[in-house]
Amino acid sequence: MTAAIIDGKAFAARVRAEVAAHVARLKEEQGLTPGLAVVLVGEDPASQVYVSSKGKQTVEVGMTSFEHKLPADTPEADLLALIARLNADPAVHGILVQLPLPGHLNSELVINSIDPAKDVDGFHISNVGLLGTGQKSMVPCTPLGCLMMLRDHHGSLSGLNAVVVGRSNIVGKPMAQLLLGDSCTVTIAHSRTRDLPAVCRQADILVAAVGRPEMIKGDWVKPGATVIDVGINRIERDGKTRLVGDVDFAGAAAVAGAITPVPGGVGPMTIACLLANTLTAFCRSHGLSEPQGLTA
Ligand code: GUN
Repeated sequence: MTAAIIDGKAFAARVRAEVAAHVARLKEEQGLTPGLAVVLVGEDPASQVYVSSKGKQTVEVGMTSFEHKLPADTPEADLLALIARLNADPAVHGILVQLPLPGHLNSELVINSIDPAKDVDGFHISNVGLLGTGQKSMVPCTPLGCLMMLRDHHGSLSGLNAVVVGRSNIVGKPMAQLLLGDSCTVTIAHSRTRDLPAVCRQADILVAAVGRPEMIKGDWVKPGATVIDVGINRIERDGKTRLVGDVDFAGAAAVAGAITPVPGGVGPMTIACLLANTLTAFCRSHGLSEPQGLTA
């Protein structure tokens, strides 16, 4: 078998186009524009790249982008004061504080100071609790993107065996909650799981989010399974730098029914879902109906 490739780049472009159409309607009919504020503390090169892509794509869908770049030694009180201003600003509907933060800042305290209604990352403890209890929440962008691609590919996920490899707060745990919400039978596996290959072989849906290059091999994949590779790992091969996922793509693609490539799979969906979440936050704050198909 050769797996179908799930094209995240094309899917993300469709999501952005839907968001842009919705934003254009809001402007025309209500004279309102959603706004997203992104806060970057320090000069981490990867974070700078992400933040500038976010700003660019925010403007491309017709929203207002607010970028706040603060020095690496910013005192915690100053960052909290900025977040308080953004919480109170009616032009700002979504707030994202780029992680990781410099070591002297308490990430949990900072994230939990964001108004949960503007927490477009879905990292605030209130949103984590709402998701865990099946209530309406802001949902973390990467797992939301994975869910959208899975629903698009399968239609209903009900009754499928899902194995999520990785237990991070950003991907693994919320991914498991979302799959449970769609009535999958869910296993969260991790580095201490016994006989991980055998656990993975049970999966109709296998989500890899461990951050280890090409760890998941072809013979860990159930024939016909759908493989979602969240990993983005930079490796040296044949004297060149390459991006690879957490899955051995060639090995898995020979067995799976469908698979996301790296790059061009889950990656582009994350920012598309951030824009979708900003639109959702805007609609909720104005008591408007939410965009269909862009939420969990
Ligand atoms: N750093 C890497 N991924 C993310 C993300 O999804 N949100 C935030 N805030 N920071 C990140």
